[in-house]
Amino acid sequence: MNKLWIIHVCLYWFFSVLNAQVATTIEDFFLPGSQPLESGNLSTPASCSCHQFNSNFDAYFGWQGSMMGQAMRDQLFIATMSIAIQDADSSGELCLRCHTPTGWLSGRSDPPDGSALIEEDYTGVNCLFCHRMVMPSEVDENPFPDDPGYTNPDYTSTNFSTYHADSVYITDFISAHIPPTTANGMFVVTSDDERRGPYSDPANPNHGYYYSHFHKISDNCGTCHDVSNPVYSRNSDGSYSLNTLGEPAPDFSPYELFPVERTFSEWKMSAYNTPEGISGTAFGGNKTSVSTCQDCHMADVTGKGASRGNAPIRNDLGLHDFTGGNTFMPLVIKAQHPLTTNAIALDSTVNKATWMLRHAATMELTVTDTDLEVRIQNETGHKLPSGYPEGRRIWINVQAFDETAQLIFESGNYNPDTAVLTHDPHIKVYEIKPGISKALAALLGKTAVPSFHFVLNDTIYSDNRIPPRGFTNVNFEEIQSPPVAYPYADEQFWDITHYTLPENRKSVIVTLYYQTTSKEYVEFLRDENSTDSNGQEMYTLWEQNGKSMPVAMIQKSWEDVPSKLFTQNSENSLSRISSLRIYGPNPFNSQIKFEYMIAKNGPVKITVFSISGKKVAELIDHYHSKGKYSINWSADNFSSGTYFVRFNTLDVNDIQKVILLK
Ligand code: HEC
Ligand code: HEC
Ligand code: HEC
Ligand code: HEC
Repeated sequence: MNKLWIIHVCLYWFFSVLNAQVATTIEDFFLPGSQPLESGNLSTPASCSCHQFNSNFDAYFGWQGSMMGQAMRDQLFIATMSIAIQDADSSGELCLRCHTPTGWLSGRSDPPDGSALIEEDYTGVNCLFCHRMVMPSEVDENPFPDDPGYTNPDYTSTNFSTYHADSVYITDFISAHIPPTTANGMFVVTSDDERRGPYSDPANPNHGYYYSHFHKISDNCGTCHDVSNPVYSRNSDGSYSLNTLGEPAPDFSPYELFPVERTFSEWKMSAYNTPEGISGTAFGGNKTSVSTCQDCHMADVTGKGASRGNAPIRNDLGLHDFTGGNTFMPLVIKAQHPLTTNAIALDSTVNKATWMLRHAATMELTVTDTDLEVRIQNETGHKLPSGYPEGRRIWINVQAFDETAQLIFESGNYNPDTAVLTHDPHIKVYEIKPGISKALAALLGKTAVPSFHFVLNDTIYSDNRIPPRGFTNVNFEEIQSPPVAYPYADEQFWDITHYTLPENRKSVIVTLYYQTTSKEYVEFLRDENSTDSNGQEMYTLWEQNGKSMPVAMIQKSWEDVPSKLFTQNSENSLSRISSLRIYGPNPFNSQIKFEYMIAKNGPVKITVFSISGKKVAELIDHYHSKGKYSINWSADNFSSGTYFVRFNTLDVNDIQKVILLK
């Protein structure tokens, strides 16, 4: 062990153990790239009004409902940042650069608790920030030599090529601190007001433009979707140690620092990272195969990029909804900020996220005597789940019944009233558990356990999240996202779990659930906070907004003898859980039929929403007794497009997507 390091750790321990705060400063969180006040004036999204005219496809509507647009209003983030600052002084510096890059670049992240931010900084990751981002490269090194459009001045509104403009900025402003790669919020954001976008032929926009190759590739998103803690550096044995305090990290390569999120790198090492991508998935909109983050999270739709009359209709317009799996925080943000947010846009995000989750995995059941095998396959472009480690989880619920329909076995029981997930001996939960290592625990006077203390964590105790297509152990080791305390073979992008059922099992229902945040996590935010009320506020909002209701990603059933009550269909065949099924045809021309099964007497609602989240039809809204029903929707008066059909009963909250083609 490095001697200096020991001395410095002793000092730090001596000075800071009393208030248990690591004595870090802003310097410890320095990262290369554009620095505050180096990116000029970043105006607010309100100035992008030409892109706010048709909520079916314009950029504004989708962005407004997205978690990126809300990244700084997100109370879960704010409450987590309070704990981070409590644990390591000035660590808000790190958080704010990604959650409000405009606020950070405008110099308002000092003090690093966010107290100097102004209203416009609450627009989170916004239009101007993204559309002035530039691919980091060394001075005089063309990052896109194979794209002639990048060096062609005809593709821009000035007489200069994009390469020229980008090079001028890099040379003039950041040549002394060029990021080694696109990661960890080390963004390069130009000070010129020309907007960079994917098209070489924008129709005479209201502002200057540069054709940008960077906006078409995943590296753009990778800029923030690989998160590392720059306070710890990697040792040759794979452990991490604290850097010298008061100084920047010795090496900013993301794989030299402690890994918090590796979504971009997981993608980079997956089979999606090929020019041809993967075909036959549910994602991509107009695309038949998907490769990049944009393909799945900014699906191609048909429409105009701006309201101007001469703007061409395109089939590859990127929907700016950026939907992931967060089905809870949009509800909280809507309730907490009714005046500054758009409730329809946030509701629409919840619908779309539910849809994403329903296509994020596939499941197969096999029952042999008393053995139940559940196979879950990851259909996303990264680990399942990926991204934010704390609180996010996916688990398997298994219920087995005897011939009198009595529940005789259950694993993964969740109680929606108390929000308790029972950790029975058979339970399978997919999650990552970062924590505090033995060495660090000894220094901090804490115990070496998995922990929610984001900035203190210096080790990974377990990670059984399902890898994506193309996974290999060596590659994932390299990006610091290997499976930990759980085996996955090379090329394995699924997981198999066995359960031993009682002998009298006659039927089985298996459901895969996703939850945005756990009870344990919101309790942690409340109980560990000794500095402000942010954790208590988050806890109250959690209590008032459904306690982060889990979403049923997939549900399948198996029966020994087909039930007499209901005829078998491809998915939900049992009467014990209500279900809605598209009878067909889909896509449809004017009429589509749905069949649905009601398991418990009670109110039933079937509502149709447009892709932009507007309620367009209510097919059913009344009390039903147990049984099987069907309903037709005649859509003669509706225009072509995608619609979401929402099914609400006492026990189920489901969503299906239908396509009207006229
Ligand atoms: C390099 C960019 C980056 C930095 C630095 C960063 N974050 Fe984030 N944060 C993200 C991204 C990207 C996500 C989304 C991941 C996901 O949805 O799974 C996220 C998600 C979160 C969430 C989950 C929010 C929700 O609604 O579920 C919390 C909480 C959070 N971050 C807290 C913090 C805190 C606290 C810090 C500082 C200690 C921080 N982040 C620093 C990029 C960053
Ligand atoms: C997280 C970064 C990000 C944010 C925030 C963002 N964009 Fe984009 N935008 C992109 C990317 C990437 C593309 C290219 C998408 C593609 O080619 O698939 C794009 C494409 C566009 C286009 C071209 C047409 C289209 O829709 O694909 C327009 C216009 C646009 N954005 C406007 C906006 C406006 C207005 C906002 C704010 C309301 C905004 N963007 C917010 C990243 C962003
Ligand atoms: C093949 C389609 C696909 C590709 C490619 C893809 N994703 Fe995803 N992603 C999904 C789906 C489906 C989900 C929802 C399931 C989930 O949350 O894990 C998701 C979830 C997410 C989440 C939320 C994770 C969570 O639950 O907190 C983030 C953040 C994310 N993706 C970012 C990215 C980024 C960045 C890239 C590119 C580096 C990318 N995705 C590539 C399909 C994709
Ligand atoms: C400035 C940093 C930054 C950039 C660049 C960025 N993101 Fe994000 N992204 C975030 C943060 C921060 C969050 C989490 C916000 C929150 O939950 O509070 C997030 C969340 C997300 C989510 C998760 C939403 C959910 O439901 O959990 C998806 C999906 C996503 N981003 C996709 C993208 C895509 C696609 C791109 C590239 C076009 C991109 N991001 C570029 C910072 C960034």
